[in-house]
This record gives sequence, C-alpha cells and structure tokens, in this order.
Amino acid sequence: QATLRDAADAQEFTIGAALDPNALRVDPSYWKTVAENFNAVTPENALKMTRLRPSRHTYDFKNADAIVNFGVENDMYVRGHTLVWHNQKPEWFQAWDYTDEQLRTFLRDHIHTVAGRYRAKIDAWDVVNEAVDDDGSMRRTVWSDGLGEDYIADAFRWADEVTDADLFYNDYGADEINEKSDAIYDLVEGLLEDDVPIDGVGLQLHALGDWPDPESIAENIQRFQDLGLEVHITEMDVAFHDGEEPENPLEEQAEYYRDVVETCLDVGCDNLVTWGVHDGSSWIRGFKDFGQRYTGDPLLFDGRYGEKPAYDAVKEGLEEY
Ligand code: G3I
Repeated sequence: QATLRDAADAQEFTIGAALDPNALRVDPSYWKTVAENFNAVTPENALKMTRLRPSRHTYDFKNADAIVNFGVENDMYVRGHTLVWHNQKPEWFQAWDYTDEQLRTFLRDHIHTVAGRYRAKIDAWDVVNEAVDDDGSMRRTVWSDGLGEDYIADAFRWADEVTDADLFYNDYGADEINEKSDAIYDLVEGLLEDDVPIDGVGLQLHALGDWPDPESIAENIQRFQDLGLEVHITEMDVAFHDGEEPENPLEEQAEYYRDVVETCLDVGCDNLVTWGVHDGSSWIRGFKDFGQRYTGDPLLFDGRYGEKPAYDAVKEGLEEY
C-alpha cells in the first residue's frame, strides 16, 4: 500500500509536518507516522527564540537537534522556523534594558549561530515571520522599534552569510490576494530591488473558518513566482468556526485540502507543510481569537493516527494529478 510519502515522492512534491520533539521521543506511533508519510519536517516551536535561548549568552539546541536530525536521518527536506519573530521572545528578554546596538548584535549573533549550526542540514529558513500587520502596515515590534525597518533586510543578509538554505519571508492571512498579501508583495519586491538575498515567500494557510479561495491563492502564488521567488505553503490546517460545522465536516475538509494541493500543482508550487501531525496535537485546540473558537480537527491524521478523508484526498490529489 503506497503511503502519502510515496505519492509525494512520485510527484516530486514535498509534503511536510510540523513536529513536537517530545512526541518524537516518547511516542513510537508518532515517529513511525511521520517517517512513513512525510518527506519534510519543521519544528513547530523548537527553533523559536524562546526555546533556544535560556539566557542572553547561552543556547539550548537539544530539542531543535532532535527534529533536524530526525529529518536528515530520514532523508527529508528540513524547514527551519523561525529566526526573527515578534512573538516568542524569552522571558529574560522582556526584562533586558538593551541599547539599540546591543539588540542588533544580539539578533545578528542569534542568526549567525542558529542558521550556521544547521548550515548543512536545513534546506529552507523562515527568516522573518509575520512582520506585516493585518491591515497591510508594517507591524511595530521590538525589532522594528530598535533596529528600524531595515532589520528585515539585515536578517536575510545575516542568514545568507552562514547558510546555503533557501531564505523565506513567512506570514499568515496573506494566502489570497488581499491588502496584506499586497503589502508583502511590495515588501519582497523592495527587498529584491535592494539585492537582499531572499528566495521565497511562505504562505501559512491556516484555514480557520473562512477558507481562502483556491483561485485567488493561485493568482497570489503566481505573482510572487513572477518576481522570481519560490512559494511554499508552510503551516496548513483546516478548521471550522465552532458550532458551524457542516453535516459532513471531514469530507468538506478533505475536498479543501485536495483543492489546495491541485492548485499548488497547477501553479508549480511543490512544497506544503501541515501544522502538526494529528488532530490531538493541533495548536488550534487552545486557540481563541476575539472570543472565537475553532474545531480542533484540522489535520490529516486523527488523534489515534487514523488516516482521515483529508489524508486520502491529499494522497489521491497527488497520485491522480
Ligand atoms: O510547553 C508548554 C507547557 O509546558 C505549558 O504548561 C503550557 C502552558 O501555557 O505552555 C506550553 O507551551 C506552549 C506551546 O505552544 C506548546 O504547546 C506555549 O505556551 C504556546 O505559546 C505555544 O504556542 C505556539 C505558538 O505558535 C506560539 O509560539 C503553538 O504551539 C504553535 O503552533 C504556534 O505556531 C505559530 C507559528 O509559529 C507561526 N504562525 C502561526 C502559528 C499558529 O499560531
């Protein structure tokens, strides 16, 4: 019986999942499911600054190494997530009274050390994550406040100094053509004009309740590709607003997954990561925004590692294309 991974390999498609290092260590079913069904991995949290930096001058790579090495040992495409983000800064950082120069040195050293460590192992990096706000303005963060908007270009240059990985800008809510993806388009076009070493754009595709329209996704991917950039789907999951599930939620979800995979194949986007392995581990369980909850069954496997209709849909989408 061919697995999802077999179908992806045959189509030269990269299909990945975001991983939790603890599950990888303690749960053989988790390990086996990932190894059999995916040809790509990314740490869901283990490469974030909070997890890597117990203090200003130290690093703890144990969990990140576990995932990256698992990927390398299993011949997988490894995505690094993420070097620069406004969210997920360590606790000690909040109390640190830095000068702008110290902040700059800190970020540069962080990027050099982390991207450099995985030079031969990580294939793509989400260098900068979520720097654009939902209305399309640049997000004000500790990085933009301390370093100015140039921190984005600098981050890509610093990463480029120590790794051969493809370097991505990654964001959510910019899957379709909209104000936010327009702003990201302008941002990356500007970076390219300034010869900043950027290779691609990651569209997260968290389809929460309102699912981005595949036709508009295709148009969006196309315009980034026309700039000479690669586009990857980096964090896909598909959920319903709580209380608004249709009669056949799993089938509708499966259809959407299939539409997105076909859309990708149509436009030549060959890399898609789901944000987790099984429904029991999805971040959406604990997530509320503006009081809104979502059903926590957004992935390809159910909580017992059963293959869901969405799994079959992605696999068939790849096999039948
Ligand atoms: O591990 C601790 C646990 O020990 C503790 O008891 C518990 C109490 O809050 O927290 C646990 O850590 C949480 C962690 O998820 C593991 O579940 C953190 O508080 C929580 O902040 C963290 O959330 C992650 C979130 O990013 C923030 O980093 C989610 O797992 C992760 O899925 C989510 O991923 C983001 C992408 O990086 C960027 N795009 C959006 C995406 C979804 O929000």
